[in-house]
Amino acid sequence: MGIATEIAEDWEAALAALDWQVEAGVDEPIVDAPINRYEMPTAAPRPVASGAVPSAEVPTRVEADPVAVARQVAGQAQTLEALRAAIAAFDLCELKKGARNTVFADGNPKARVLILGEAPGADEDREGRPFVGRAGQLLDRMFGAIGLSRTSPDAEAALYITNVMPWRPPGNRDPEPAEIAMMRPFVERHIALVDPAVIVVMGNTPLDALTGKRGILRARGSWSQALGKPLLPMTHPAYLLRTPAAKREAWADLLSLQARLR
Ligand code: URA
Repeated sequence: MGIATEIAEDWEAALAALDWQVEAGVDEPIVDAPINRYEMPTAAPRPVASGAVPSAEVPTRVEADPVAVARQVAGQAQTLEALRAAIAAFDLCELKKGARNTVFADGNPKARVLILGEAPGADEDREGRPFVGRAGQLLDRMFGAIGLSRTSPDAEAALYITNVMPWRPPGNRDPEPAEIAMMRPFVERHIALVDPAVIVVMGNTPLDALTGKRGILRARGSWSQALGKPLLPMTHPAYLLRTPAAKREAWADLLSLQARLR
């Protein structure tokens, strides 16, 4: 084996190992030897100009409030494309650092039905589109059974699909309350711009984001209102893959949605 081949194989093996670690949720590189940060040189104190307030009394760094920043930039977005750009530029959510893609939305923005999911998984992170993995395929079949599809150009038969979180949480963990809170202004703006006739929330994270409540197994199937729109909570398709017996209730929820749209 030539040196060039060996180098290529080493490089590919290293890349595969890195990919595997990212899939497993690793989001921070750690060096071999521990670093004692107490022994690291500290920056020399800045001279205080006469008449100035001593630096100890002045906050050196003002932390941005992520929710306030999100509210401001989301509120300025006048179109879906502007909102997509605002989310892609939002750097205050740690999840963004570990994600390959910002997953914004899929489907027809004229759809009467907007589906709000939780967060991208590995497949969605790779492709940059929501609900493209196994759960997404089940979602397509479920809604297809009542004549709704993300690829339909007809608003009456179309779906628009997005998530509360546009970035994949490491290891597919649940998004934390602070992460949901900072993305909520974007979700609200997203829904205002699409202006659907009804919202379907799939799972606890979007139920929490729009109603402040959790407990999807109790809430599912009961219509309520959020952001001035009828809201139907349903169990997440990933739950249905794990719990096939719950598909009967999900079918009842789909029929309830179909009746509402008529
Ligand atoms: N689960 C979700 O909630 N959203 C996706 O996009 C994929 C899986």
